[in-house]
Amino acid sequence: MHLSKRLETCLRYTEGFQRLADIGTDHAMLPIEAVLRGHVVSALAIDNKFGPFLQARTNVKKYQMENRVKVVLGEGLDKVDAETDVVVISGLGGDSIATILENIKTQNIKRFVLQANNNAYKIRAILPKIGYRLLDELVLADQNVIYDVLVLEPGQSEMNELELEFGPINLRDKPHHFIQRLHSEIDHYKRILAQVTSTDRKELIQHKIDTLEAIVDDRK
Ligand SMILES: C[S@@+](CC[C@H](N)C(=O)[O-])C[C@H]1O[C@@H](n2cnc3c(N)ncnc32)[C@H](O)[C@@H]1O
Repeated sequence: MHLSKRLETCLRYTEGFQRLADIGTDHAMLPIEAVLRGHVVSALAIDNKFGPFLQARTNVKKYQMENRVKVVLGEGLDKVDAETDVVVISGLGGDSIATILENIKTQNIKRFVLQANNNAYKIRAILPKIGYRLLDELVLADQNVIYDVLVLEPGQSEMNELELEFGPINLRDKPHHFIQRLHSEIDHYKRILAQVTSTDRKELIQHKIDTLEAIVDDRK
């Protein structure tokens, strides 16, 4: 089965666990593949909409995975059971992922693999509240779209404002696509700056540009 680079990256972090829950599973390709490759013993493929639920059920049947991948109609983490030790949430915005995480009910999840389409800082911001910390952080490009992947483990999280916004591991490692995204943001703010007339707004935007340029210039 061919998976996108984005899903392959998430899948890599599921290896060695017992039960995976894939929240917002849609086609259920990720949990099917995680079981087929032996990364986990069993999986829950969870979606809160009926169309994707049916699509997931069709695919699970097609790959004869009915005994190992259970398709569940459910909201966020609500239907995650106590046997689940790894959770993937991919293809959603950072806002939605943070809202889902705020409703954790089981204490047994050893790892979250979170692929955010945007606003990854919203996820970093709620880590102290939910008792998880960053284990890894990636910025990847798939078909010219840049995505964030955040991998969490139980623990206490402490980040300063810059780390919250950009990610402590991104700031440390300065990965290629992270820097590429900052360059686009700098260009974007420079275009806005050229059009703005209010002094206050000019200062604000210039401060933003200075912050971004400092991160880029400081590249190892
Ligand atoms: C864009 S698709 C992503 C599918 C797959 N995870 C991927 O990354 O390719 C998002 C899926 O999440 C489901 N979804 C959105 N919010 C959800 C929530 N709160 N709980 C469960 N599923 C959700 C949607 O119905 C949809 O099928």
